[in-house]
Amino acid sequence: MKLGVLASGEGSTLQAVLDAGVSGEIDACVRLVISNNSNAGAVQRARQHGIDTLHISSTTHADDEARDQAITQALVSAEVDLVLLAGYMKRLGPQVLETFSGRIINTHPSLLPKYGGQGFYGRRVHEAVLAAGDTATGATVHIVTADYDAGPIVGQVTVPVRKHDTVQSLEDRVKNAERKLLLQVISDWRDQTRDQGPRMAKVMPGD
Ligand code: GRF
Repeated sequence: MKLGVLASGEGSTLQAVLDAGVSGEIDACVRLVISNNSNAGAVQRARQHGIDTLHISSTTHADDEARDQAITQALVSAEVDLVLLAGYMKRLGPQVLETFSGRIINTHPSLLPKYGGQGFYGRRVHEAVLAAGDTATGATVHIVTADYDAGPIVGQVTVPVRKHDTVQSLEDRVKNAERKLLLQVISDWRDQTRDQGPRMAKVMPGD
């Protein structure tokens, strides 16, 4: 299965996917990494693995529609089966959402619908969880739609909040659980796609 990844930050999520692809834990390879930030750790990590990278941002494409088109074309050219948003801080445009409808997933460090939507990202989520005194948090993988963090949920993992947790300790534990969840979702996605193969093949010849 071919993956296209969009990432803006450090890239630890991308790294987990790259490592799992190399070790064979998942039957999926990253074909392309797109970032709005040419200095992102995710871009460096991709290059170290010899993966094509593309910088697409308001600097390279000032117009929203042109940016959307460039992202769509790059993913189509790379023939990706599944698009993964791994810490991507920008909203996707209508063209890419339509072209890859139902095939774009995002990973978010909370138990959505809690702490989702505009303004809730990275450490801000964990700060809010601690401020609210929640006893549990977690991570969610969901299908991407036009609204932030609002598409159908495909996987969720719960992480207990410990008495002496700090934003850092909580972030570390959530990210760890989040990576495992994401690899499981990708693996299940791959299995379901493979299962669809024979079913489709059966009805084709002579039918
Ligand atoms: C992850 O926790 C993800 O849930 C969120 O951003 C973080 C990305 O971290 N959307 P990294 O850049 O992969 O290290």
